[in-house]
Amino acid sequence: NKPTLDECYNLLDFEAVAKRVMKKTAWAYYSSGADDEITLRDNHSAFHRIWFRPKVLVDVERVDMSTTMLGTKTSIPFYVTATALGKLGHPEGEVVLTKGAAKHNVIQMIPTLASCSFDEICDAKSNDQIQWLQLYVNKNREITRKIVTHAENRGCKALFITVDAPQLGRREKDMRSKFEDNGSSVQNDNGDSMDRSQGAARAISSFIDPSLSWKDIPWFKSITKMKIVLKGVQRVEDVIKACEAGVDGVVLSNHGGRQLDTAPSGIEILAATMPILRERGLDKKIEIFIDGGIRRASDIVKAICLGAKGVGIGRPFLYAMSAYGLAGVDRAMQLLKDEMEMNMRLIGAPTIADLEDNMVDTRAVALH
Ligand code: FNR
Repeated sequence: NKPTLDECYNLLDFEAVAKRVMKKTAWAYYSSGADDEITLRDNHSAFHRIWFRPKVLVDVERVDMSTTMLGTKTSIPFYVTATALGKLGHPEGEVVLTKGAAKHNVIQMIPTLASCSFDEICDAKSNDQIQWLQLYVNKNREITRKIVTHAENRGCKALFITVDAPQLGRREKDMRSKFEDNGSSVQNDNGDSMDRSQGAARAISSFIDPSLSWKDIPWFKSITKMKIVLKGVQRVEDVIKACEAGVDGVVLSNHGGRQLDTAPSGIEILAATMPILRERGLDKKIEIFIDGGIRRASDIVKAICLGAKGVGIGRPFLYAMSAYGLAGVDRAMQLLKDEMEMNMRLIGAPTIADLEDNMVDTRAVALH
């Protein structure tokens, strides 16, 4: 007796249903964070330390939440971020997210470690749908070059290089549940043997190159014309380095609390970063994204007010997909759009450009 879809009124409702209906191993892999899960919890609660300073008597009869990210138009400033192993939650895997995103004109980031093949996920997209590729850099750079070139040829618009995972974090909930590959084949063509005793995450990630460094960035720029974004930046000094390296964007992110525990939340790094970028005239040189703990459109609004171009959302769509399939993903996105419209009206911002940093009070935020 699981609740019907229309009894889910917000993204957290999907999480509660997913926890009840998902297989234990799948729930453990999706929901877990690293170590004591302090970062995992704070990703969400950091938003509760930011308060709004709404404007009144602004004409908000019409609200337009469309925007651009990395040069392409999109209906709302969030994207489906990359999350590995979609088939643990739903037999059709990531293509369910592709179809949901297509319906709402939302951008999807395709994970290197998808359960569906990269081509299956590309084939599932609608005509003008935008997809990005998340890249785990292989120790064998020829494999990496092939993946990147193929993605570009298939029309991917941006390359998100994950930089916060030279080693996978210890997600003990996941490790305890001992990953069994129940039919979820992974696009892992490097022939590594899997150590399943370490949980799903560690079993699939041994090919990732821990020697990746700033020196490698020019090589990526030389092999692709796609926009390049560093995913998992956690301090302003590195945002400045990213500007100097000439990349197009960064995602301020701690990998959904799955890597370094007690790493700061994306929203708090954003609050600390933007004033410094503005001071140095760098804020227009690079697009800043954040992810982690975004569960309400009010969280999206706060990030945009503080200077983000857009936000990534991970687990909520996995949970909606696992609990209700495509209809769940569709409803989750619609709920976010409804919340977004209401929030923009109530804060007094008819367009995304009207969301300004004087509309949030960040005095309770720690500026790490
Ligand atoms: C992730 N994330 C992730 N990131 C990445 O760069 N490559 C990957 O393969 C994965 N895989 C993955 C699996 C699962 C189950 C989760 C929950 C997350 C991190 C992801 O892109 C993003 O940073 C966080 O999920 C954002 O936090 P929320 O929205 O899940 O709170």
